[in-house]
Amino acid sequence: MEELFRHVDEEFDASLERLREFLRIPSVGTDTSFDPDTRRCAQWLADQLTEIGFDAQVRDTPGQPMVVGHWPNPEADGPRLLYYGHYDVQPADPLELWDSPPFDPQIVDGPQGKQIVARGAVDDKGQVMTWVEAFRAYRKVHGNLPFPITILVEGEEESSSVNLEPFIRANADELRADVCIISDTGMLGVDRPAITTMLRGIVYIEVSLAGPTHDLHSGMYGGAVVNPLNALVEILAGLHDSDGRITLPGYYDKVRDIPKEQRADWQAAGFDERDFLATAGLDHSVGEEGHTVLERIWARPSLDVNGIWGGYAGEGAKTVIPAKAHAKLSCRLVPDQDANEVLQSLVSYFEKACPPGCRISIKDLGKGGPIRVPSDSPFVEAARRATSHAFPHPASLIGCGGSIPVAASMRQILGMDSVLLGFGLDDDRVHSPNEKFSLTCLERGIKTHLALLRELSTGV
Ligand code: BES
Ligand code: MN
Ligand code: MN
Repeated sequence: MEELFRHVDEEFDASLERLREFLRIPSVGTDTSFDPDTRRCAQWLADQLTEIGFDAQVRDTPGQPMVVGHWPNPEADGPRLLYYGHYDVQPADPLELWDSPPFDPQIVDGPQGKQIVARGAVDDKGQVMTWVEAFRAYRKVHGNLPFPITILVEGEEESSSVNLEPFIRANADELRADVCIISDTGMLGVDRPAITTMLRGIVYIEVSLAGPTHDLHSGMYGGAVVNPLNALVEILAGLHDSDGRITLPGYYDKVRDIPKEQRADWQAAGFDERDFLATAGLDHSVGEEGHTVLERIWARPSLDVNGIWGGYAGEGAKTVIPAKAHAKLSCRLVPDQDANEVLQSLVSYFEKACPPGCRISIKDLGKGGPIRVPSDSPFVEAARRATSHAFPHPASLIGCGGSIPVAASMRQILGMDSVLLGFGLDDDRVHSPNEKFSLTCLERGIKTHLALLRELSTGV
């Protein structure tokens, strides 16, 4: 390992320069005006893989293209590995809140040493580079990679991976492996690595309520006709009871209690509620009684309104009853909730609650199932050992409140588990202005992926 690690240290500046190139391409997958950049980004990554020695291509889908790479390695008899990541990034706005332009990566000093600031730094370009650079180093030092390796990097993760499932189904034989390795999650601290074994799923919808044929004078009509915005906020408010529980019929039926040992493990993880709330500028939490903040985020389902609009929201007063009202809403799901069932139950809730004089319509903006990775999986064990080569403390098994839709698809379609081995930190400002990735996390991530190749060679 020493030789490999020395190589990583020597080449670190070059690795960083490649990450900067990657970050300079504004691959905002949800915004079609960036399509040429998004495609350029996919091509850039495929070229990197080709340079390392992969057989790599950009493959079209009805949406953003996929990057697929192969290291066939027919002589190797170890496990077949599939590495997944995403090259798309969230929109950068609000632009005025960035200290430097979002697609002009800067290296600055931060609380954990140097960090790179740019949209996509941690989510997910910096993390994709942890394994890309590990492959580059391994290849350089050993001339070959130790296993048959397939790479799948998509450009629509941030828009619910709508074209991913059909792609996986259509290319199942090509993509099938023994395990899927994903670096798109976080750790407990820069010295405290983690493997995520519970990941929430998501159901995302847009609801529209239409009432009068046009906006009305709120004096001439107010109090006598239905107001779609009044109605919508009332319906939305009805989704939680006064104890913070979600009222959708059957919502908790399949949610399992958190096992005692799990709660104890998490308790021991040293998570500080105050510090965590402070990262959001808050000093109070909300949610279900009887659960810690960590448990609420990792192992309990949630429901949030993400946006609401209609009527007049410009400057000053305009007295109207809006003809239409809209909201975006997401549910985070935990094992064993079913994303399709939750969607159905949302649809019936809204249809039932729709007042006379209004019509409701619901758009499905994407789904992804929750997952649980068996913590005694030999791959999780190997990942755990791998982190011990690059970090001063042993890895914890954690949950994650965010979602990565591919993980459930990998299990469902290809029958394989994922190892969620991520290197982000809570204060990385994922999806926010001044997103960053600590250079220590980058370096330790590369080393962990190298160590993982080694650990897997000693057999799983
Ligand atoms: N990498 C994140 C998931 C994540 C978030 C992991 C925070 C760890 C901490 C991923 O790119 C993401 O943002 N997923 C979306 C999925 C959605 C658009 C379907 C999410 O969770 O909102
Ligand atoms: Mn991500
Ligand atoms: Mn994201």
